[in-house]
Amino acid sequence: MATPSTPAATESAANTDLLGCEGVPAARLRTLLSRTAEIDERLTRGDRSLLDLLAGRAVGTLFFEDSTRTRMSFDLAAQRGGAAVIDLTAKASSISKGETAVDTALVVEAMGVDCLVVRAQHAGTAHAIASAVSCSVLNAGDGKHEHPTQALIDAYTLGTATGRTDWDFSGLKLAIVGDVVSSRVARSNAWAMTTLGAEVTLIGPAGLAPSALANLAPNVRIERDFDGALPGFDALMMLRVQFERHGDPGSGKGGKRSASMASVREYRAGYGLTPERAATMKDGAFVMHPGPMNRGVEIDGAVSDGPRSLILKQVAAGVPVRLAAMAECLGV
Ligand code: CP
Repeated sequence: MATPSTPAATESAANTDLLGCEGVPAARLRTLLSRTAEIDERLTRGDRSLLDLLAGRAVGTLFFEDSTRTRMSFDLAAQRGGAAVIDLTAKASSISKGETAVDTALVVEAMGVDCLVVRAQHAGTAHAIASAVSCSVLNAGDGKHEHPTQALIDAYTLGTATGRTDWDFSGLKLAIVGDVVSSRVARSNAWAMTTLGAEVTLIGPAGLAPSALANLAPNVRIERDFDGALPGFDALMMLRVQFERHGDPGSGKGGKRSASMASVREYRAGYGLTPERAATMKDGAFVMHPGPMNRGVEIDGAVSDGPRSLILKQVAAGVPVRLAAMAECLGV
C-alpha cells in the first residue's frame, strides 16, 4: 500500500504497511511494543476475545525464501487474532513457471486478502509489492536489507528482560556480533534499537562487519576486539554466519565454507560465543540470537541453552509482536 518507494523509505503515512525500521519514529516503535505487551498478556491468560481482533480479515503469507520462525509465528498470530490465513510456498507455486513476486502478490490480493506478509531473497521485494497492491504489506525479511518484525521481537524481549517496559533503552549497551554484513536482522536492529535509545556496537572481522556499517545510524560503532569489549555489554546478539550469502560456490546448501573468512575455525576462535567467553560477560547480561543458529560456529550449545539465553523467549515473542503489527497495519 506504500506510495512508490525505495528500500530506504520504509513506511506509509498511515502505518498501513510495515516495511522496515529505518526512519520509523520512536513513537511508532513504542506503540507497537506496548500493543505487543498487551496482546502477550492476553495470549498468556487465554483471552478468547482476541479472536475478534482480526475477525473477518484474511492474511496471505508469501514466502519466496525458506523460514521456520517467521512463517509459523505470522500464521499462528493471524489465527490467534481470528483471521483466515492462506499460505503460499514458492517451491509449490506458479513462481516455478516464471510468475514474478509482484504478479503473485496481485493474484493473492485479488482473492480478497487484507494483508500480505512477504519473505524474499532479494532486497526491495516487499517495497515493490507494496507499491503494486492496495492491501497492507508486512516485510518478513528481504535479502540483506530489513526484517522489521524480528527487530521488534528483539526489542520486546530485551525490554521485558531488563525491565525497560517503557521501551526507553537509553544507556543500554547492545553488541551485535558476527556476520553483520549479510544480516537484515542486524540492520533492522541497528535502526530500531538506536531509535529507542540504545548504543549498538557491531562486532566482527572486517570482511563480515565492514567499518562503513558505522554509518547506519548515530550511536552505532564498530569493534574488532570481541574479547576486550565483551564485558561492557548488557546484551550480546549473536548472528548466524550466512554461508549461503557469501558468494562462494561451496558455501550453499548447508555447507560451511566462505569467501569472507579464512576458516570457520579461525572465525570461531575470534568471534564464537563459547562458555569461556560467556563467563566474562557482566552479571545479568543476556545472550540473544534471532535464529536459525549454527551451533559450534557463532555460538556454543552450552551458551544458547544456558541461563543467560533469551533465545526461546525471542521465538515466543514472535506471535504477539506479529499480531500487534498486523493489527496496527489493518487499523484495528
Ligand atoms: N529469525 C528468522 O527470521 O528465522 P526464520 O528464517 O526461521 O524465519
